Amino acid sequence: MSGDKHACDFSIFGVMGDLSRRKLIPSLYQLDRAGLLHEDTRIIGIARHEISQDDFVAKMQMSLETFVKDPLESDVVERLLARLHYVLINLDVPEEYTRLGKAIDQEKRVLVNYFSVAPFLFDDICKGLAHAAIVTPETRVVLEKPIGRDLESSQEINDTVARVFTEEQVYRIDHYLGKETVMNLLALRFANSIFTTNWDHNTIDHVQITVAEEVGIEGRWGYFDKSGQLRDMVQNHLMQILTLVAMEPPVNMDGDSIRNEKLKVLKALRPITADTVEEKTVRGQYGPGFIKGKAVPGYHEEEGGNPASSTESFVAIRVDIDNWRWADVPFYLRTGKRLTTKRSEVVIYFKRLPHNIFKDSYKNLPRNKLVIRLQPDEGVEIEMLNKEPGIGKGVKLQKTLLDLSFSDAFNSRRIPDAYERLILETMIGNQSLFIRRDEVERAWKWIDSIQEAWAECKESPKKYPAGTWGPVASVALLARDGR
Ligand SMILES: NC(=O)c1ccc[n+]([C@@H]2O[C@H](COP(=O)([O-])OP(=O)(O)OC[C@H]3O[C@@H](n4cnc5c(N)ncnc54)[C@H](OP(=O)(O)O)[C@@H]3O)[C@@H](O)[C@H]2O)c1
Repeated sequence: MSGDKHACDFSIFGVMGDLSRRKLIPSLYQLDRAGLLHEDTRIIGIARHEISQDDFVAKMQMSLETFVKDPLESDVVERLLARLHYVLINLDVPEEYTRLGKAIDQEKRVLVNYFSVAPFLFDDICKGLAHAAIVTPETRVVLEKPIGRDLESSQEINDTVARVFTEEQVYRIDHYLGKETVMNLLALRFANSIFTTNWDHNTIDHVQITVAEEVGIEGRWGYFDKSGQLRDMVQNHLMQILTLVAMEPPVNMDGDSIRNEKLKVLKALRPITADTVEEKTVRGQYGPGFIKGKAVPGYHEEEGGNPASSTESFVAIRVDIDNWRWADVPFYLRTGKRLTTKRSEVVIYFKRLPHNIFKDSYKNLPRNKLVIRLQPDEGVEIEMLNKEPGIGKGVKLQKTLLDLSFSDAFNSRRIPDAYERLILETMIGNQSLFIRRDEVERAWKWIDSIQEAWAECKESPKKYPAGTWGPVASVALLARDGR
């Protein structure tokens, strides 16, 4: 197969679930609208509900009406709905997978299996697919997070899938890797000589990566409390961003070229131990507070909450990368729920100049800052000093921004949702935006070291009021380093 379009049987296990209705089906609509689905591509919805094909199609149409933000185009809706086929399978009944076998045609189309279900069902699905003998070397499988809650459980999940699929057939999703701005990190770093030559310990002082959420637990208290912000956000999203910022230039854009470089960064992360955990990390948990003037409950008071829980809803970590490029350049990661606002960004702080000839303006010249805004209002911003216009005594400097807002610069273009790009890549068969097994497991190994150190030191998370930027101690994490 060649070109951008590939005919697929795109099968969604758990098609009636939240992720499928809110993200996958609307993304398939957008891909169809953009002309990116092959005319022979079909979407096979798999669930255990006794419903007719017509009722299934009606439900999917309702998902489009509810979750597609732009006005729906009726011809695209019609085309998409005509691609849908419903297959009833109880995932734990291997015999029922022959129904899927009958619905697909691997002579004409590649089978892409999207596991939009909890990971404990992966084993059943793999066994069912094997039982129905529908796995060929071309068949692909897409796995949703979480891939485990520690190294051991992630290895179990990966082993389960590996019994049926080779690594070349597995697409592990971290939806951050499908975001336009995260992809743009690669363009920024490797297509612009001003950055390729100024991206190491010689010019960069430190890096801050922030993923701030305004929302709280959103009715998922039981799920979240078993996991916490470190496992739920740092292990995947923040570490993926970190690896893209820190990796060496890959030789090309091939899946393994990029993933090999990301893995090297993960291998170079300095482990955090019981001796260093208090100095390197801050754990927080939100109490009651105000978000945009509205009173919101604390973590313990959320629906289903348990007042004895010491699960963290905020984490700040100083990360050291032990390699040549990043010697003595700390990366500060920060993420939390119920913070002041929703914001994800990477900020690169350049080194101060060795000598200041503008002392009248600034006793200490501020550092140049490169801000890569991931969401909302995606864009890139450089903070630099310029001379304030005018004549008079001395030269007055002023901080100014070179601001490239994507919505302004590319205003005619719609920015696609991360899932659109990722689904398309699974259909094309390009693994570069998906996480390889060794990456996931290496990331868990490092996260486990923090989790174990926290368990050993037994300190409870520090409280912060909802609607703030987290515990005061997280500011101290930087201040201690003179930053
Ligand atoms: N929702 C998100 O935004 C999101 C984001 C990132 C990752 N994820 C991950 O994606 C996965 C799916 O999440 P979700 O939120 O969509 O979950 P969900 O709403 O609970 O959907 C899961 C679906 O699996 C089906 N299912 C469960 N057991 C089954 C069985 N034995 N046979 C057939 N179907 C069965 C359920 O069917 P019934 O309707 O019959 O119960 C349900 O529709 C999870 O691993 C989650 O962590 C979700």
